[in-house]
Amino acid sequence: MRVGLTDTPVRRRRWTRRPHPPISRLVPAHPRLQLTVNGRPVAADATGQQSLLDFLRDTCDLTGTKRGCDRGECGACTVLVDGAPTLSCLALAHGCAGQSVQTVEGLGDVQAPHALQEAFAAEDAAQCGFCTPGQLMAAAALLAREADPSETAVRAALSGNLCRCGTHPKIVRAVRRAAQHLREAGTASDHGTTRATTARAPEASRS
Ligand code: FES
Ligand code: FES
Repeated sequence: MRVGLTDTPVRRRRWTRRPHPPISRLVPAHPRLQLTVNGRPVAADATGQQSLLDFLRDTCDLTGTKRGCDRGECGACTVLVDGAPTLSCLALAHGCAGQSVQTVEGLGDVQAPHALQEAFAAEDAAQCGFCTPGQLMAAAALLAREADPSETAVRAALSGNLCRCGTHPKIVRAVRRAAQHLREAGTASDHGTTRATTARAPEASRS
């Protein structure tokens, strides 16, 4: 075979097939995953493809985090990963290895509600309540970085959290009410991480 203007013969490269080990030998089916959930260490098996949402709901039995669209559009599955609001339906569980995850269960409970949860109740900011856990976690992240967010800032921070019941005006009021409460209590930056240590314990470490 001759190429271009030269008379130099070009030899085709010969490809040799090299057998590779089965994928199951390279990646264990259920690799061990270690992370912190609501202030408690968790060690459990998780498949490489398992989402953080599935891991929290199915493995940790923390069903407060909701599955809405399951494709990153509704915000119902929002949790905090190292303090950052994260769509757990799009995050791989193993991608959070060694990190700290906070769910709505770690924010507070009936006995010790977080200021946000109290404000949502006071403002009647939940109708069906399906979007509420995600709204609360996104709001918690906002209050952690902004003690006195404007209405515009609240709307921007929660813009990825849809509410099919249309309670957005009440949600915005509730977040600003919680912010005021936290400022008056002098705990504006304590959005829930500290509170998580006293909130209801999540699923303990599994072995
Ligand atoms: S369930 Fe994750 S964004 Fe809708
Ligand atoms: S309260 Fe029903 S979806 Fe928001």
